[in-house]
Amino acid sequence: MPKLSLECAFAHENEGIYATLNGMGFSYQDITIIGEAFVEWAGAQEKPVLDIGAAYGFAALKALQRGACVIANDLSPQHLEILTQRVTSDLAPGLTLKVGRFPEQLDFPEASLSGIFASNVLHFLRPRQLKEALQKIHSWLLPGGKVFVVVMSPYIECLKLVIPVFEAQKGGGAKWPGVMPSSRFKPSGEIQVFLPEKIHVFDKITLERVFKEYDFIIDHIEYISRPNWPVEWQYDGRESVGLIASKPF
Ligand SMILES: C[S@@+](CC[C@H](N)C(=O)[O-])C[C@H]1O[C@@H](n2cnc3c(N)ncnc32)[C@H](O)[C@@H]1O
Repeated sequence: MPKLSLECAFAHENEGIYATLNGMGFSYQDITIIGEAFVEWAGAQEKPVLDIGAAYGFAALKALQRGACVIANDLSPQHLEILTQRVTSDLAPGLTLKVGRFPEQLDFPEASLSGIFASNVLHFLRPRQLKEALQKIHSWLLPGGKVFVVVMSPYIECLKLVIPVFEAQKGGGAKWPGVMPSSRFKPSGEIQVFLPEKIHVFDKITLERVFKEYDFIIDHIEYISRPNWPVEWQYDGRESVGLIASKPF
């Protein structure tokens, strides 16, 4: 296998945006305000934290630097190999890798994790998988543990044909208004290469409802603007949704 490095992952002309090697979107150096909150939380915990869909590990590395024990998961072994190449030897003992598809191929003992970060990954899950995902996250967290989530909203310029479909499905009372086949719209530019057959976007209301339904307390939810994204992706400052939620004691 050729030696992998972050440099060989296609870097967007905008600094800090790296294409995944398996066509599943991009890995962002800007881990957002939600990622920074995860890193701060992780550094203060005794039990390990989990980064689901960690890709090249921008958040995982920051958490390791804060002294956290980090389990980095991804379905791509190549992404995790790049991550290991980026870890300095002093931090390596704190890192555990878990290759596998979440939620199906990932398991941890009940109440064994203090925090979980899932950034730009839940929007790849179908509703059935999302139910299992939330049950597993809830089970793995300690009481009082926190989950930190960033997901794609429909409010992205190059995907804006999604917006009326999303709003119509939501207005019609759909439980999962953000699920739609990519063929229902025609994204422009390079982003189309990185879209699966079905996407699952969320607005604030839908994401909050889903987490409440699975017995989480919502600590914080907000739209996140992405000023570092290419202009042709930026819409109106609601490009991502960020959530922090706790498992009750
Ligand atoms: C869009 S990238 C996001 C990377 C990083 N979390 C971030 O926010 O910059 C999605 C990553 O999640 C991984 N992924 C997608 N679906 C997954 C799943 N069901 N289980 C585990 N990893 C998954 C992909 O391989 C990819 O590395």
